[in-house]
Amino acid sequence: MTTTESRSSQSMESLQECLDTGHTSDVSLEQYFTPDSLARELMDKLPIRHPATIFDPQCGEGALLNCAPGWPAKYGIELDDSKNPGGVQVIHANCLRVFEAVTDVAPTLRFVVANANVPFGRRWKMRNGESIDSTLATWRFVTNHANCGFLIGNATTIEKLLIHESTEKIDVFYYERRQAFQYWDGLRPELQIGVLCWKRRDANGGPVADSGPNAVSFTPPGAASVTWIQIRSIIEEEKLTRPQFNIFLDHAGFLKTYLSQRSTFKLKLTPEQIGRLHRLNGCHPLGLTTEKETRDLMKQLVSCGLYTLQPQAQEAIERALADVNPFHSDQRLSLEHLGREPSIQPQHWFRQW
Ligand SMILES: C[S@@+](CC[C@H](N)C(=O)[O-])C[C@H]1O[C@@H](n2cnc3c(N)ncnc32)[C@H](O)[C@@H]1O
Repeated sequence: MTTTESRSSQSMESLQECLDTGHTSDVSLEQYFTPDSLARELMDKLPIRHPATIFDPQCGEGALLNCAPGWPAKYGIELDDSKNPGGVQVIHANCLRVFEAVTDVAPTLRFVVANANVPFGRRWKMRNGESIDSTLATWRFVTNHANCGFLIGNATTIEKLLIHESTEKIDVFYYERRQAFQYWDGLRPELQIGVLCWKRRDANGGPVADSGPNAVSFTPPGAASVTWIQIRSIIEEEKLTRPQFNIFLDHAGFLKTYLSQRSTFKLKLTPEQIGRLHRLNGCHPLGLTTEKETRDLMKQLVSCGLYTLQPQAQEAIERALADVNPFHSDQRLSLEHLGREPSIQPQHWFRQW
């Protein structure tokens, strides 16, 4: 058996998303849904009876969420738009994009339980261009954003990545190899899955508990749902085509702004600041010369790397500032007078706004 062994192919609708995830050679989404008996068996091993929140990074039809007793708030990600399990707050997207958005804007989001049955042997492309094994990406995310859970994966991959071994942070208290064909039809007899149960160690190295002095904190359902809605809106927005820059000039030479939700949530912009940025839309660069607060806000967004400014827009703003500000215009005139290119580049002028 190899770690790239795939279990089956299924139809899918989000073609672009699939291509982005590296599902190029075939259309396999690894849709092997976990039988309820296996999900319940593993859920029973977790050190928590009635979790307040539960998460599955590739939730399919929801088996790993519905196995929890009680009425937890359920959160899932699923690439296949046609899978919409009832009662689950699903984000339909490539889970890697969601992992990246959570890491970016909600790094402290913590579910009580995160269970996963990962798509085997995939290489997923990260934003920085590097690729990552699907099991490793999933494992890192669930152990960073939950207190305990179970994971089902390709046994060879799990062991190669040493996921089945406990670390200072994570206690893997159950691991077993099992034959895959006992759960799914049509698989080669030698294909083995690894099933494991894990829990975070608390600060003192002890086990997690849902209440009492050893309780490890988690994001309450209300706050987790608000965050999940924000993450979903970021993902939905980013699926659409976006302009290349946050501030750019239209064909008539007027300013345009594109204020991404990611930057809005990450920077915790106030409604007043958001309004200020939106008012830039359709504004002539000269109009900005009397808007020092808006310029300061733009400067702040650009300098922290969250906002991009089209060079032509930057030049137009600088030109407008120079026209109304004698210091700038004198400086440009004197440089032109000397018959050489201005040594102060637009970026430098930008710092003088
Ligand atoms: C092995 S099934 C497990 C489903 C469910 N967790 C369960 O145990 O029944 C893997 C699921 O991952 C979905 N999937 C595949 N690649 C994905 C990706 N990059 N992001 C999110 N979901 C993905 C598939 O559509 C499929 O539903």
